[in-house]
Amino acid sequence: MNKKRFTITSALLYANGPIHLGHLSGAYLPADIFSRYQKLKGHDVAFICGSDEHGAAITLQAKKQGISPKEIIDKYHNLNKKSFEEFGIDFSIYDRTSSADHHNTAQEIFKILEKNNSFTKKTSQQLFDREHKQFLADRYIIGECPKCSAKEAYGDQCEKCGSNLNPEELINPKSSLSGNAPILKETTHWYLPMQKHEKWIKKWINEGYLDNKKSHDPKLWKKQVIGQCNSWLESGLKERSMTRDLEWGVKVPIENGEGKVLYVWLDAPIGYISATKKYTAENGLDWRKYWKKNESELIHFMGKDNIVFHCIIFPIILKELGDYNLPKNVPANGFLNLEGRKLSTSKNWAIWLHEYLNDFKNQQDTLRYVLCATAPENKDTDFTWKDFQARNNNELVAVFGNFINRVIVLTNKYWEGTVPERYNLTDYDQKTLDSIEEYPQKIGRCIEKYQLREALNEFMNLARNGNKYLAETEPWKCKKTDEKRTKTIINIAIQISASLAILCEPFLPHTSKKLMGLLNMNKIAWDSVGGILINDGHKVNPNEHLFSKIEDEEITYQLEKLNNQ
Ligand code: MF3
Ligand code: ZN
Repeated sequence: MNKKRFTITSALLYANGPIHLGHLSGAYLPADIFSRYQKLKGHDVAFICGSDEHGAAITLQAKKQGISPKEIIDKYHNLNKKSFEEFGIDFSIYDRTSSADHHNTAQEIFKILEKNNSFTKKTSQQLFDREHKQFLADRYIIGECPKCSAKEAYGDQCEKCGSNLNPEELINPKSSLSGNAPILKETTHWYLPMQKHEKWIKKWINEGYLDNKKSHDPKLWKKQVIGQCNSWLESGLKERSMTRDLEWGVKVPIENGEGKVLYVWLDAPIGYISATKKYTAENGLDWRKYWKKNESELIHFMGKDNIVFHCIIFPIILKELGDYNLPKNVPANGFLNLEGRKLSTSKNWAIWLHEYLNDFKNQQDTLRYVLCATAPENKDTDFTWKDFQARNNNELVAVFGNFINRVIVLTNKYWEGTVPERYNLTDYDQKTLDSIEEYPQKIGRCIEKYQLREALNEFMNLARNGNKYLAETEPWKCKKTDEKRTKTIINIAIQISASLAILCEPFLPHTSKKLMGLLNMNKIAWDSVGGILINDGHKVNPNEHLFSKIEDEEITYQLEKLNNQ
């Protein structure tokens, strides 16, 4: 087999609050499914994530609560790390950008860029809060959006219409620290002259060519991703400041940099590199193999609000650094709405992962299943508790769970858990066995195209076929009259179960483990799935349910909680 290497990233999560379902469905679950699949294929995967601990999102939150930024990031870094683990997101590392190692890496990179003349230095008049003696960039400044007239747009972005903004564009700007109108004051910053890069970025994104070499197939990129990049490119790339007059962040490591830190959108993606360095150092590997000389495929997973940073700004930085790889794909997702309304942390309209894990013990995979089945792959989608219940009860319990339940119960009841032998196969038996062989490829092809909903649907087709096989052959009816026939049927059903146990792993890792336990089997490679995986005479374990039904009361409780929080 041709062993490949993947560097897979999920957007670093701001450590200013707990993780919610919207985050999961956009950036983390899809990346986890993709990573788990590639590992089962035998490829080398570094799956990188962590907390994004700088930027105004953190400092403003700290200020609001009257505590230090450090207290905030420690609290949420640890909470989110634990929630991800329990949910089964299998990061190679969950690092943090406040670490000294990250600060060193980010500063080193800044110095290289400065030495390369990748930046231009410029002095200009910027918005300043006199009362707080602070320059106002990004979220420190609020005003009316020049594009959609929303009242509370930030200095860097309007959350209502999604436009990227500059502080000077806001109408009636106000400091978010004091509420006062700002004054203008002179300051010097390092800028990335993005306009110089317009030409190659356009070619790279739209044609998949970099330095006259094919770098990727643009047909494999999502249309919305290319579309968003092009709408940015059409309005012309401008210079963008890479430093800020702030205390909290990575200090600018060169002369005249006092009192300044790196722009959070420069420091955070460098966090992917710092985290890879830490992961490889701890595992006796070489980080360069994951970032340089085309020795790895770099894939960035995220929500659609992060597209330009990963498709334009960070690639410019990587290219300026010389020998780094540019992303092979940036499969960004849309947003997940909740009960027909936009998710909102500030309005408390969200479902928090740590609360879900507490309310639905050992039911991580139900949420993984529903979030994958409804993932906003090509457009925004909606999560509802009713749909969650229905998919659990009608699909996981009634199809997958029911099939496994019958197989394990009958094997135990008829032959004390010993897998029976096969006798003569009917055409239907043979067809059923043959069809299992096709599933690893069918599912794999979808995952490789980032069509995870369809991949999950294909997986469920195998479970549906298993159920149908039992419903049509009715082994419980022929047990008394035809022992050999009964044995053959259950043997085949056992083979389907073993394939399901492996193929469900990317989507439902907890269930995979449980099912392998029931079948008393070990993990095998993705491409070995199909055909006869379990020999007759093998002993399976006593039955346990894979999934349990979710009752109406549980759903009513969740709906009330959501509406009252
Ligand atoms: N913290 C950012 C957000 O949640 C994402 C940072 S991604 C990185 O929107 F590339 F900068 F790390
Ligand atoms: Zn707007």
